[in-house]
Amino acid sequence: MVKALRWAGYGLAGVAGLAVLAAAGVWGMSAYALSRTVEPRPEHIVMAGASAARGQHLAQTATCLDCHGQDLRGSKFLEEPGLATLNAPNLTLVAAKASDEQLAQAIRQGIGHDGRSLFIMPSSTYAAFTDQEVSDLIAFIRSLPRGGSELPKMTLGPIGHIGVALGKFQTQPALMARYREHPALDVGPQHVAGRHLAMTICADCHASDLTGQEVKPGTVSPDLTVVGSYDKAQFAALMKTGLPPGGRHLQMMKDTSRNSFSHFTDQEVEQLFGYLQARAARLQARSASTS
Ligand code: HEC
Ligand code: HEC
Repeated sequence: MVKALRWAGYGLAGVAGLAVLAAAGVWGMSAYALSRTVEPRPEHIVMAGASAARGQHLAQTATCLDCHGQDLRGSKFLEEPGLATLNAPNLTLVAAKASDEQLAQAIRQGIGHDGRSLFIMPSSTYAAFTDQEVSDLIAFIRSLPRGGSELPKMTLGPIGHIGVALGKFQTQPALMARYREHPALDVGPQHVAGRHLAMTICADCHASDLTGQEVKPGTVSPDLTVVGSYDKAQFAALMKTGLPPGGRHLQMMKDTSRNSFSHFTDQEVEQLFGYLQARAARLQARSASTS
């Protein structure tokens, strides 16, 4: 009896020991992933021809202002105790400390001016921005008056650490390869501009190849082949108002359209529509020929 109890005691101690070891393992793996830095590549930006006005337009349509705030003074992105708290930083204050090169590396490579690999900031889609576009964005950031306060850096709760340890919650440099390896379908030179808009702006939520994905638990974005069933006026209405054909109610897409895509010029809307229709037609023809 005593012996049995003693064995049970050893068993429990063993279980508790394993739990401690597992927690230490998760902590260690997460700390390792968080501390891993990536050496930034040199950027080739040309500030001489940069335009703050073009940069402002891009910051509106590419959803920068949606996350970093209308005046770029930062805003809360996520506050889930247990998971993480994460702010989109005050870029007017970051710009005071960071060089143009460092800002470009943050935007296109996902590496902050302090050398940290960034989370959430959609650099893996912005990686496709041209030198001109990045330069315009930097000119816009620098044109805004400095103000507001510095927001705290990211903190992870236990679930956040498990997510990082298991690779479910990845930094932008770690996600880059996926975007390079699964790009949006190329449908020819006449749709280069529309494809560029889709790859740099829509891909953040609709996946690198625009086939749709779970954006956050319970919210799924569709494959953008749906645009094949839209006419031009319906597509323009979705971009301007967030209202899809048939009077349905969208959620994340409605807010994103109203805040950001309503700033697209008519020409940009046409370019996107032309590309997404051509992509849908190409993919439909492909699946018809294989079935
Ligand atoms: C989905 C939200 C989101 C969008 C959209 C977004 N950002 Fe960010 N950005 C963040 C977050 C969050 C961070 C901080 C990430 C971290 O600390 O790991 C960040 C960091 C940055 C940094 C790095 C600051 C530093 O410390 O060096 C720059 C620069 C930046 N963003 C510029 C931009 C620009 C320009 C755009 C638009 C082209 C943009 N962001 C769009 C969320 C966003
Ligand atoms: C911030 C995330 C986000 C971005 C960026 C985004 N979308 Fe969406 N989109 C969604 C989500 C999520 C849905 C599913 C409906 C919902 O929950 O709002 C959706 C739905 C759609 C739909 C289907 C509407 C319907 O008929 O049901 C279309 C078309 C669409 N998006 C086009 C685009 C285009 C074009 C872009 C780029 C200019 C884009 N989206 C960028 C999140 C996004």
